[in-house]
Amino acid sequence: MTLLGEARTLLGPPENLRTLRRARYPSPDCTRAGAVGAACSLGGVDERTGTAGAAADPGPDTGEPVVGRDAQWARLLRAADPASPERVLLLLGEAGTGKSTLLDSVARRAAASGARVLRATGSESESDLAFSALHQLLRPVRTEAERLPDGQRATLCDALGGGRDAAPPDLMLVGVAVLNLLSALGGPSPLLVLLDDAPLFDRASLTVLSFVARRLAGEPVTMLVGARTGGRLPGFDRHAPTLVLGPLDDASAHRLLDLQPRSPVGRTRARILDQAVGNPLALVELARSARDPGREPAPAGPLPLTDHLERVFAARLDGLPSPTARALLLLAAMDTGDSALAVPAGLPGGGDDAWLPAEAAGLIGRTGSGVRFRHPLVRSAVYHAASSAARRAAHLALADMLLTEPDRRAWHRAAAAPHADADVSADLVR
Ligand SMILES: Nc1ncnc2c1ncn2[C@@H]1O[C@H](COP(=O)(O)OP(=O)(O)OP(=O)(O)O)[C@@H](O)[C@H]1O
Ligand SMILES: [Mg+2]
Repeated sequence: MTLLGEARTLLGPPENLRTLRRARYPSPDCTRAGAVGAACSLGGVDERTGTAGAAADPGPDTGEPVVGRDAQWARLLRAADPASPERVLLLLGEAGTGKSTLLDSVARRAAASGARVLRATGSESESDLAFSALHQLLRPVRTEAERLPDGQRATLCDALGGGRDAAPPDLMLVGVAVLNLLSALGGPSPLLVLLDDAPLFDRASLTVLSFVARRLAGEPVTMLVGARTGGRLPGFDRHAPTLVLGPLDDASAHRLLDLQPRSPVGRTRARILDQAVGNPLALVELARSARDPGREPAPAGPLPLTDHLERVFAARLDGLPSPTARALLLLAAMDTGDSALAVPAGLPGGGDDAWLPAEAAGLIGRTGSGVRFRHPLVRSAVYHAASSAARRAAHLALADMLLTEPDRRAWHRAAAAPHADADVSADLVR
């Protein structure tokens, strides 16, 4: 049977899945029944790092210099300093202004000076999946979570899909468990929690993490939260101090262009500066497009900059060989924010030639055996450029690759089903 055919057999009454998806979001007065003290498996060797409970790797140092942003960098470092009274800081800015770049940089600095770093990155494909961001954040510390008192351990276990209780866990109890876990983790050395693209987090994780954020005073834990301007961050909006990233100043914009291979000159340079209006992503990508004959930046017109950039990326998909296009779509449909660390068997590995044309087009970067999109807008461009049938087929293919991970498998089956299906629904609440 074809992947699409398989998808059709999964179809069922639309209400089933919607009802069960809602059921994954506990109502505020919901209480968890029966799981306290139940056997649950949070611990074990971390699959991503291969170490038991090791601090999450803040990511490879790409060596790309951070241009400008001295004041913002200093402010973030101050917040990450365990002596700072500021325990939470929101980093806001338009797409491509450099939030992730700065957060990565601070993470590397903090890790180098002995702090432990945990991070989660929001993604569109996970934003409907209750507790998926928390799952991402806490996966590397499952061993430590085993040491929580029984009740909290069981609650957390239920939330992260490892428990036996089908009833959704109480959000406040999950919040208390997470607060205690983070506080304990910060004991030996300070803990830095990075939540990037947080508006894309699922609602349950946001509720829990904002509950935690409001109780970090005096704890050896700093929470830095990256979000696009205008994205809603329920629970965080009104309480946390904020740092806004505006455009790069002129000198920094010129400097960033100077650092690009075959740095643009003359009228091309002037046009790029004009279109990018200080947005670093736009500067880098428009300069790259200007290097390819026939792909010079088109007049920006009335499109918002993000749409313009998404089109710039989508144009680079034209003419890619089909194995490359398929691999890109699978990568875009993956349910993790950190593709470099979790490429499942079945997707070409980082060393596979299928990636070469995508790398040459500036769509992905390879980090040893891993692959990651060069920017979330690339993921978005790839995902939205595909037909809905191709997207569903990609999700089904991923579900087939994830036989040993029932939770992620169920998510992909749900994403592949245009309507609800009873089997998929049952998997989601299992
Ligand atoms: N200060 C900087 N110096 C050098 N390059 C930068 C800087 N800021 C951003 N960039 C470049 O711009 C690209 C986009 O930046 P980044 O991904 O950090 O933006 P973002 O604000 O996180 O965007 P989004 O909201 O879409 O996640 C980076 O890959 C990097 O190449
Ligand atoms: Mg970002």
